[in-house]
Amino acid sequence: DRVLVLAGGMSPEHEVSVRSGRRVAESLRRLDIEVQVADVDATLLARLADDPPQVVFPVLHGASGEDGAIREILELSGVPYVGAVPSACRVAFAKPTAKALVARNGVAVPRGVTLPKAAFHDLGAPALLERIGGALGFPLFIKPDQGGSAFGATAVDSAEELSAALVGCFAYGDAALIEERVRGTEITVGVLDLGDGPFALPPVEIVPDGGVYDYAARYTAGRTEFFSPARLPADIVDAATSAALTAHEVLGLRDFSRADLIVDGQGDVRFLEVQVAPGMTETSTFPLGVDAADLDFAVVCRELAHQALL
Ligand code: DAL
Repeated sequence: DRVLVLAGGMSPEHEVSVRSGRRVAESLRRLDIEVQVADVDATLLARLADDPPQVVFPVLHGASGEDGAIREILELSGVPYVGAVPSACRVAFAKPTAKALVARNGVAVPRGVTLPKAAFHDLGAPALLERIGGALGFPLFIKPDQGGSAFGATAVDSAEELSAALVGCFAYGDAALIEERVRGTEITVGVLDLGDGPFALPPVEIVPDGGVYDYAARYTAGRTEFFSPARLPADIVDAATSAALTAHEVLGLRDFSRADLIVDGQGDVRFLEVQVAPGMTETSTFPLGVDAADLDFAVVCRELAHQALL
């Protein structure tokens, strides 16, 4: 077998993707699979044409990686690849759209509004405060409408913090998703399909040391405590599992995904967003879920690569 792992990419999550890609490549090599790792640049199309791998494993996070753009190139090149097709990626990557679709299929979500950058400039902070504060109250959670790893995301406790949070958000995107901040237990649920249909991995519970799961808490070993499986009663595990499977299915995802959820104080599960290329680093939760399911991460990577060839 010859697998080409794509890692790095052109988003702020470049470094995370390099780490995820390295882990996937090292895992496959341990199973004696020939693997090359490449970043995406202007030579990609020529490389795929001149020396086509048997299968591409995209481990690219954020814009161009998870929004389907690079996968369009793979489609054009006719090279089989692991993961969701471009159209599904596009929908899943647009957080307000994905959230609306998942909500329409019966999964609870936080209340929220989408604010384009242009409207922020047109309306001005006072009018905005009135509108958003009136609609949602505080505390809020603000994040760019696309992209991951908490870039541009801020927890906002009061009206005074709103403007700065929005400016920070618009550094990473052209629209902000402003949501009521649900307090509770953050969990992720991986979904995997090894050929017999999608199934959910055990939920992984996230307890960041400072209470906020920001970039540093995500990618610095020891900054976040993970409980895998999550310390949740069976009925909540069932609800979380069902939410993750619903997201995977209604968004038309393929092979694997990860739903990010929160369990509020009443034990109700809310869907926050989905990753079509979840982090695979040493501190990422998808591989923890694989372990908790008693599956071997390397074997899972190999099976995903194999089934792309079928
Ligand atoms: N976007 C990062 C890689 C994650 O959620 O795992």
